[in-house]
Amino acid sequence: MVGVGGRVIAVDLQEGMIRGLKKRAKKTKYCNNLETVVCDEDSLCIKNYHNKIDFILLYAVLHEIKNKKKALSELFDVLKKNGKILFGEPNFVINQKAFDKSIDLAKKVDFCVANDQIKYKGFWKILEKK
Ligand SMILES: C[S@@+](CC[C@H](N)C(=O)[O-])C[C@H]1O[C@@H](n2cnc3c(N)ncnc32)[C@H](O)[C@@H]1O
Repeated sequence: MVGVGGRVIAVDLQEGMIRGLKKRAKKTKYCNNLETVVCDEDSLCIKNYHNKIDFILLYAVLHEIKNKKKALSELFDVLKKNGKILFGEPNFVINQKAFDKSIDLAKKVDFCVANDQIKYKGFWKILEKK
């Protein structure tokens, strides 16, 4: 998806998750495109990527983060203008009300919420930095 010169930055709180990802990536031709960040509970630790990111996949993560607004602000900060987040949550973990609450928080940190209907299991929205 990112092409030959593109980069993928994977962020997780658990070092073990990042280790597993690196191990799997090594078995593919994509291992040289991968950068990883082990973050902490209070921050995604991504400020080095200010205005550098085109696209973020945020799936099944936000509900686990205590300070959701801060995490969304950090994601907003790293996106380029017109950058997007594909934001999803599994519907067996959270309900529509909780998902809508996250969408309200995203709006508070200045994301625009696209009208696109994503017909895939769970809750999905595209968040845009205009
Ligand atoms: C349910 S898993 C989903 C992982 C992946 N997105 C997927 O779909 O397979 C949730 C992940 O969020 C990570 N996580 C939990 N709290 C976090 C935080 N505060 N910052 C970053 N990652 C966090 C967990 O370590 C875990 O790997």
